[in-house]
Amino acid sequence: MRQKIVAGNWKMNKDAAGSIDLVKELTANAFPSGVRVMIAPATVFLDRIAQATKGTGLEVASQNMNAADSGAYTGEVSAAMLQSIGINATLLGHSERRAYYNETNESLVHKVKTAMETNMEIVFCFGEELADRKTDNHFKIVEQQLEVALFSQEGLDWSKIILAYEPVWAIGTGETASPEQAQEMHAFIRSLIQKRCGDAVAETTSILYGGSVKPTNAEELFSQADVDGGLIGGASLKADDFMGIVNAI
Ligand code: 13P
Repeated sequence: MRQKIVAGNWKMNKDAAGSIDLVKELTANAFPSGVRVMIAPATVFLDRIAQATKGTGLEVASQNMNAADSGAYTGEVSAAMLQSIGINATLLGHSERRAYYNETNESLVHKVKTAMETNMEIVFCFGEELADRKTDNHFKIVEQQLEVALFSQEGLDWSKIILAYEPVWAIGTGETASPEQAQEMHAFIRSLIQKRCGDAVAETTSILYGGSVKPTNAEELFSQADVDGGLIGGASLKADDFMGIVNAI
């Protein structure tokens, strides 16, 4: 059985006090059983949030990680650094990192490899831009993103990989993919995994949807057969909204 997961990507939001306040509000709730609830706060607060969430069932992930083990990479953070403060999961390949920080399918090969070598769980983000969808290239783009960064690599431990399909045109725009559009793409992604990695991996890999998920549309999105949860941006910054989404699964 694949896991149901709701993850909040806080992006570059919340200061120290605001981060801890939100963690407290979230952990005051009982999370539904059988659902993994994760947050990805700003790197600078990961240490204190890892402490604050100990034993609460709320999981904490990084928003990014460098491919190198250590060295002269000013401003960057390594897997070992994250693990030394109890962070064992990271987002990789978010569209904002691809758009603003030159992350590419090719550079993600190295990050994925490092994550596998260091036993970091990854939430691998990908998705087409509006122009790709308008020109009917969305399936091709998504296949390419997965092929280069994941399928082409030997020996991936798929039990450590969560996929997050985030169509760029739906991120922060208020425009959500319809449940049918999400299901169509998620089924396509699962069929690709099946072709490249076999039935067992296809059946057990969680595929999250991200892009303007809100308490009002979460239930319909999550009820789709191949949507195993969500990666939430804006609506993860308010405890009530995020819990509304968590409870919709
Ligand atoms: P929004 O939920 O704000 O559209 O952001 C989605 C996202 O980018 C999560 O990683």
